[in-house]
Amino acid sequence: MLVLGGTAFLSAAVVELALERGHQVSCLNRGRRRSPAPGAELIAADRDRGEVAYAGATGEWDAVVDVTWQPAHARDAVAVLGGRSAHWAFVSSASVYADHDVPGAEEGDALLPAYGQQGPAQIELYGEAKVACEVACAEAVGDRLQVCRPGLIAGRGDPSDRFGYWPARFARPDSGDVLVPDRSEQWMQVIGVADLARWLVDSAESKTVGTFNLVGDPMPLSAMINRVQHVCGSTAAQVAVDPDWLVQQQVNFWAGPRSLPLWLPSEGYTGFGARSNKAAKAAGLQLSTLADVVKESLGFEQELGVDRERTAGLSRETEAALLAAWSARSDKPVAGPEGQS
Ligand SMILES: NC(=O)c1ccc[n+]([C@@H]2O[C@H](COP(=O)([O-])OP(=O)(O)OC[C@H]3O[C@@H](n4cnc5c(N)ncnc54)[C@H](OP(=O)(O)O)[C@@H]3O)[C@@H](O)[C@H]2O)c1
Repeated sequence: MLVLGGTAFLSAAVVELALERGHQVSCLNRGRRRSPAPGAELIAADRDRGEVAYAGATGEWDAVVDVTWQPAHARDAVAVLGGRSAHWAFVSSASVYADHDVPGAEEGDALLPAYGQQGPAQIELYGEAKVACEVACAEAVGDRLQVCRPGLIAGRGDPSDRFGYWPARFARPDSGDVLVPDRSEQWMQVIGVADLARWLVDSAESKTVGTFNLVGDPMPLSAMINRVQHVCGSTAAQVAVDPDWLVQQQVNFWAGPRSLPLWLPSEGYTGFGARSNKAAKAAGLQLSTLADVVKESLGFEQELGVDRERTAGLSRETEAALLAAWSARSDKPVAGPEGQS
């Protein structure tokens, strides 16, 4: 198996599992992160250099897995290696879809226009770039191709800090009150990185082709947060805060600094956390329980330190300031004589 990548979160998990199953594995990357798992061969190359980057990947491959989001990387890889691999898995993203408003949407849903400019795509056009990668793969290796479209991935090695914010937050020893968005009607779904790696290695072995959403089972965001709290054994009080107020306080949606991870705008995202995973399940996808995904994510967060500076979420100070401002706001309902508000 040749993994284009292989030393980060998902692609590293694919390499480890393929090795465990006794496959011979090579990883092509620049060698800027950790070394590939012991037993895997490193083919050091920079894909920004074009087709020459693949010169070291000689011979025939039973399976190639590519995780890039740069159309030129995807195009050059299939041009050089496509004719020498019996199966090709391109890891795309649910961000390729044009709309995120319909719960239960399946793989035939309309896509964004493919990125068509010269040169590398910028992150703002991530979805369009992934569409262009899918098109390049379909044109070159369509008869052997699996397009895998994950939604939110969680677990060991997650560099985005998104899902892990919640277990880390509830696992803080001096937890205090926990600020949560008051969005009980929002859907969310998460897939564990181990489940996705298993799906990709199974697919390489069985040569499964087609296009699949790789997403967890949808549930209300509030239920997901409650489940995280339960698994963390936390008895902290949740303070559910009005989303409009959070927006006024410049708290960001979904990810990044000063955010409440996984929280989405109320308009336009009704189906974002509720895509269908029927096709992948019919083709053999096995999902761990949410509790198991949380436990793995919690273990990883505890190793890193639950109070560390994060790339996604609210800092301790920001959350405390927001909770104080929420409790002191002048427009809050006043408690009546019977204690009702
Ligand atoms: N995280 C999520 O929730 C989520 C959701 C939907 C879809 N996805 C998709 O899931 C996949 C995740 O893949 P991943 O975790 O393995 O991480 P990744 O960040 O997509 O890939 C990183 C790997 O590619 C290598 N690489 C990067 N630039 C390179 C270059 N110019 N030349 C050669 N190698 C290069 C890196 O090694 P070096 O830096 O050493 O070169 C590393 O091994 C991606 O396709 C992502 O788009 C993720």
